[in-house]
Amino acid sequence: MAKNTIQYVCSSCGAKAPQMLGRCPVCGEWGTYEEEVIVDSKSATHSRLSLRNGSDNTPKRLQEVVASEEMRIDMQDGELNRVLGGGLVPGSLVLLGGEPGIGKSTLALQVLMRMGERRTFYASGEESARQLKLRAERLTGNAENLYICSETSLERILEQVKQIEPEIVVIDSIQTIGTENTEATIGSLSQVRECATRLMEFAKTRNIPFIIIGHINKEGALAGPKVLEHIVDTVLQFEGDQQYMYRILRAQKNRFGSTAELGIYEMQQNGLREVSNPSELLLSTAREGLSGIAIAAAVEGVRPFLIEIQALVSSAAYGTPQRSSTGFDGRRLNMLLAVLEKRIGFKLLQKDVFLNIAGGLRVQDPAIDLAVLAAVLSSNMDIPLDAGTCLCGEVGLAGEIRPVNRIEQRISEAQKLGFERILIPAGMKIDTTRFRIKVVPVSKVTDAFRLLIKQ
Ligand code: TYD
Ligand code: MG
Repeated sequence: MAKNTIQYVCSSCGAKAPQMLGRCPVCGEWGTYEEEVIVDSKSATHSRLSLRNGSDNTPKRLQEVVASEEMRIDMQDGELNRVLGGGLVPGSLVLLGGEPGIGKSTLALQVLMRMGERRTFYASGEESARQLKLRAERLTGNAENLYICSETSLERILEQVKQIEPEIVVIDSIQTIGTENTEATIGSLSQVRECATRLMEFAKTRNIPFIIIGHINKEGALAGPKVLEHIVDTVLQFEGDQQYMYRILRAQKNRFGSTAELGIYEMQQNGLREVSNPSELLLSTAREGLSGIAIAAAVEGVRPFLIEIQALVSSAAYGTPQRSSTGFDGRRLNMLLAVLEKRIGFKLLQKDVFLNIAGGLRVQDPAIDLAVLAAVLSSNMDIPLDAGTCLCGEVGLAGEIRPVNRIEQRISEAQKLGFERILIPAGMKIDTTRFRIKVVPVSKVTDAFRLLIKQ
């Protein structure tokens, strides 16, 4: 007889405790503890081991291991391929997370529909086969060998995978499927973790890649986040704003590629369209003559794009001035404002400062510092900046402009989009004669401002 015991697990960090706790002593989160039933470990281990049937797990010399010729599956989608690090690795487990309604199911189904002759399998615990068909009718692709099923039992899904032998499997979603190994309710932390572990073993032993869809809880984290992140190979986050039609795909963890890459899509009537030139989408056309706007040449991963930084500086209505930023680190904004105050002598103490990166994008590239300061300054003085100039440079505490990476790609991008001038950090060794655009090196924030605002 299986003997079950109960323990309590933090859904945020995975810490365990013998009794229910209000606040997790490890990660400090409140109300995250959930009950978990531990099934007699013998039966669980046994069923795991039985999955390994047919595969040879004896140690080999590294030299003896034969890596297959085709190491990556082309997903027929440039953005997804890049975020995955050059395609999907056979036998890998990819978690695709995002808020409800963001387009995870659409992306997964659309990718499988484009796979042509490759045999693929889409198992959904959320939608019936008819609903999947309805969705598929809106999308394009010649899915000759796409199998779909509506199923919530992990064992039955894996059984079908064994029969169909697909090259890619999508499971929509990890929170709606359950395994018989544990008695916990579907969607609970222990179910999610158990299913993910089983899928990982199955994927590795049979060399079939799985894309599992996961919902995000209200704090913006994947349900059971840390626990799942440790198990899977790759964590992709699909994000975007309901107000904007475009979506951003980023890798939060990737055992087979960089996490710096970014994929951009636009949600249309017939599915998600790849946006291969993001700058066009991110720059508004009607910015000429407006104060508080500066254009930065940013790089995410290896891809350069231009983004619009908007700032609004106004007198603080109440005693304490507000500092608010969307898409840019708030602490970094405070630091830049202090530089503006101390090094350049602008008194912003009694002013509210609002900063926004247009289009709902989150940017971590420090090279946009200079554009942030320029936008703040432009709004504060209510003088529009020259619309034909774009900026890049990290700002140091002394008000100096520091070098940035991938400078040539940034310059080329600005040139491609028809800018006349780009301000770059001084002292970077580049051949400016190669470019048609006017490249102006600047070493201090004050020098940059003098060029930007001619009075
Ligand atoms: P969906 O993929 O169901 O989101 P998720 O699986 O992340 O919950 O996407 C749902 C939204 O996308 C819904 O508001 C309808 C919209 N949509 C389109 O605009 N065009 C399309 O072709 C499809 C299939 C969906
Ligand atoms: Mg869905």
